[in-house]
Amino acid sequence: MLSKSVYAALNKHMNTELFSAYLYLNMSSAANEMGFKGVANWFSVQYQEEMVHFTKFYNYINSQGSQAVVDKMTKPASSFPTLLNFFEETLKHEQFITKCINELTELAVMEKDHATQIFLQWFITEQIEEEENDREIIGKLKMIGDNGYGQLMLDKELSVRVFVPPAATAA
Ligand code: FEO
Repeated sequence: MLSKSVYAALNKHMNTELFSAYLYLNMSSAANEMGFKGVANWFSVQYQEEMVHFTKFYNYINSQGSQAVVDKMTKPASSFPTLLNFFEETLKHEQFITKCINELTELAVMEKDHATQIFLQWFITEQIEEEENDREIIGKLKMIGDNGYGQLMLDKELSVRVFVPPAATAA
């Protein structure tokens, strides 16, 4: 059973994960419109991963006998002037998510909610990988600069990313 404050915080964050999915869906179509099919693919996979994150929160809240509730969504950004901007915005957003997960964990510790602490462990690890991926691409884009050939090569590299559902979400 979740305390009132843990429930409210988990449900709020569940909606933030859904917002992340919407944001990356917009980024995918924006990249597609600019002709970067590989970048569009990368963000499409990112969208699918966020839906997994959202579903993990949804299932966890419900499994604890509480009711997961989807809220009205803030409109995500849909215009990104450069390739670098796509990934700088992504890193900024993921750093915000990391902060949210850390705050959720601190609340679960304060409330002595061990089950929620264990549930959040997966997300703590996931956020390390998320930020690392973004930083790596940003580094490459800074090296590439305005070089069109370099951008096309990176686009090709990002086209091979595939969505792999985490085993833990099979339940
Ligand atoms: Fe669900 Fe990208 O954090």
